[in-house]
Amino acid sequence: MTKQDWVYSETVKEHFLNPRNFLMGDESGFSYDAVGTVGNPVCGDQMKMYIKVARREDGAEVIDDIRWKTYGCASAIASTSALSEIAKGKTLDAALLISAEDIDAYLGKLPKHKFHCSILGHDALRDAIEQYRKNH
Ligand code: FES
Repeated sequence: MTKQDWVYSETVKEHFLNPRNFLMGDESGFSYDAVGTVGNPVCGDQMKMYIKVARREDGAEVIDDIRWKTYGCASAIASTSALSEIAKGKTLDAALLISAEDIDAYLGKLPKHKFHCSILGHDALRDAIEQYRKNH
C-alpha cells in the first residue's frame, strides 16, 4: 500500500469534521417515518438511517428529511454525510438509484481500501426505504 492510498480529499475531511444530518442524541428528537439498520460485514461497524417522507403535489414520495448515526469509521461518517445531502429531496425511487460510486465521486474519491465504508450508509438508506414501503 502506498502513501497515496491513505490520502483523504479535502471534501472527505470536511464532511468528517462537520457531518451533515447527523442525529445528535436519541431518535426521540427527530420525527421520522422509517429507520434502516445495517452492519458492515467487512469491519462489523453499524449504521442507522432515519427518513421522513413527504408526498409532493404530483403524488411522488420524497425524502423530506434524513438523519443517521453510526459506530463506523471516519470514511463511513464522511460518506454518509455526503449521501444524506445527495438523498434529501429525492424521490424514494431516485434515492434507491444513488450508488456507492456517486458518493465516492461527490467526495472526490475515498482511498480504495475504504470504499466499503461508503456502502454502510448506502445500504442503511435502502433498508429505510424498504421499511417505509412495508409499513405505509
Ligand atoms: S472501517 Fe467500518 S465502516 Fe469504515
